[in-house]
Order: sequence, then structure tokens, then C-alpha cells
Amino acid sequence: MLHIILVEAELELIPKEIRNHYIIRKHAKKRGKKPSEMILDSSLHFRAMYKIDDFKRRGRPDIVFLSLLGLLSSPLNKTGMLRVYVHTRNDEVIFINPKVRLPRNYNRFIGLFEKLFVEREIRTKEGICLLKLIEMNIYDLVKKIKAEKYILMDEKVDININKLIKEFKNHNDIAIMIGAFPHGDFRNDYEFADRISIHKERLDAWSVALFVTDLYYFVKLL
Ligand SMILES: C[S@@+](CC[C@H](N)C(=O)[O-])C[C@H]1O[C@@H](n2cnc3c(N)ncnc32)[C@H](O)[C@@H]1O
Repeated sequence: MLHIILVEAELELIPKEIRNHYIIRKHAKKRGKKPSEMILDSSLHFRAMYKIDDFKRRGRPDIVFLSLLGLLSSPLNKTGMLRVYVHTRNDEVIFINPKVRLPRNYNRFIGLFEKLFVEREIRTKEGICLLKLIEMNIYDLVKKIKAEKYILMDEKVDININKLIKEFKNHNDIAIMIGAFPHGDFRNDYEFADRISIHKERLDAWSVALFVTDLYYFVKLL
């Protein structure tokens, strides 16, 4: 099994400090929603965000959207050998049912995840849980997954794709962590993980996620 953890994802509801900002109120009114039940999106809310810490990297649900669409439609997921988790900047973890069919449309994805943040889970009519959000930090998630090996994808270390292949061959249950933020460094220290780079330049999270997933499929199944 390959576990992909999108770590420190910049996915959150509009923080309290800016819920009263006129940009936010205007957008909430347009959508017929409460500001406290809307996901922060820097492409829409940037002019209100300068008041919050770390504002330059926050409000990037699109990174999670693109990564999840790619991962869930990957050949590895179709074989049932992939598990995906989203860990957020506020230490929540979203458990994703591998069979969930997420909206292909960004606005509908945002609507679904807003519902998830408010209701904490999304179920089918038959009661099957598709998405579940739990307050949990990355260390507790790691204890829960209990993989044999943890690797943090990090563009700042030496490129070593051979090591990645070796680790895939040597372990049946392996977890790969990928930063789901636009820039800056990891906020946790991940001392329990080895670090690997796959390219000399910084890549987008969704590109790294698909590279790793397809490589695992190739190594284990072809
Ligand atoms: C856009 S990067 C994150 C921000 C980046 N640290 C910066 O300062 O611009 C998204 C994530 O993809 C992974 N990543 C990006 N480039 C990579 C590379 N060349 N090798 C391995 N992982 C990479 C890392 O996990 C990284 O946190």
C-alpha cells in the first residue's frame, strides 16, 4: 500500500480575524453563506488577508483540488493500493475514501469541502463515509497509519530517485509526504522521515504526487 499524505495543506475556513472584512462579507453575501462557513481562497480574498499571519502562503485549496483529482484517478488508486490523506495547517486530517468521485469543477469542490468543514463528514445516501475530517496532527496521523517507512518529498535535498525505487521495492507499506502549500518551508520537522528530491527544480505538489504514485505502480505492479 502506498499512503500519500498532503501535509500542511493551505486549506482552511476563513479565519476569525478577517470574517468582518468588507471583501469577505461581500463574497459571503454573493454566495448566500456565512463567512465562517467559507473556505479561504487567496485568489478571491487576498485583499483581506494581509491582516493574518503567513498570509502569502495561505488560502490555496486549489493545490488540494488538483492533487486529489490526479491521485484519485491514477492507475494505482484503481488497483486499490493507494490511500490519500490531507493534513491541514490547522492540524486537521481529512481521510479520503479511495472510491470517492470528487467534483471536477473547482467551485463544486469548494462547496463540498465547505460542507465537510462544517459537518465533519460526507456520506452517501447508503451511509458510506466518503470524506471525514478529524482534528489530528501529523505525528498522530503517522501513529495511526503505522507504515513501515516514511519519506518526505523535499526539493532542497539531493536528487535520489534510485533510493525512492529501492524503498518501494523493500517496503510493502510506505508513506510519502508532500507539502500542499505554494512556497516557504515545512513548519513541522518530520524527524521520523527520510527526505528525497526528484528534480533539481521545485515542482508543484500535484506533479510530485503523480510522479510518486505512477513510479510506485511501475515498481510494484509492472
Ligand atoms: C510548491 S512546493 C512547496 C514550496 C517550496 N518549498 C518553495 O519554497 O517554493 C510543493 C511540495 O512539493 C514537493 N516538491 C516540490 N519540488 C520537489 C522536488 N524537486 N523534489 C521532491 N519534492 C518536491 C515538496 O514536498 C514541496 O513541499
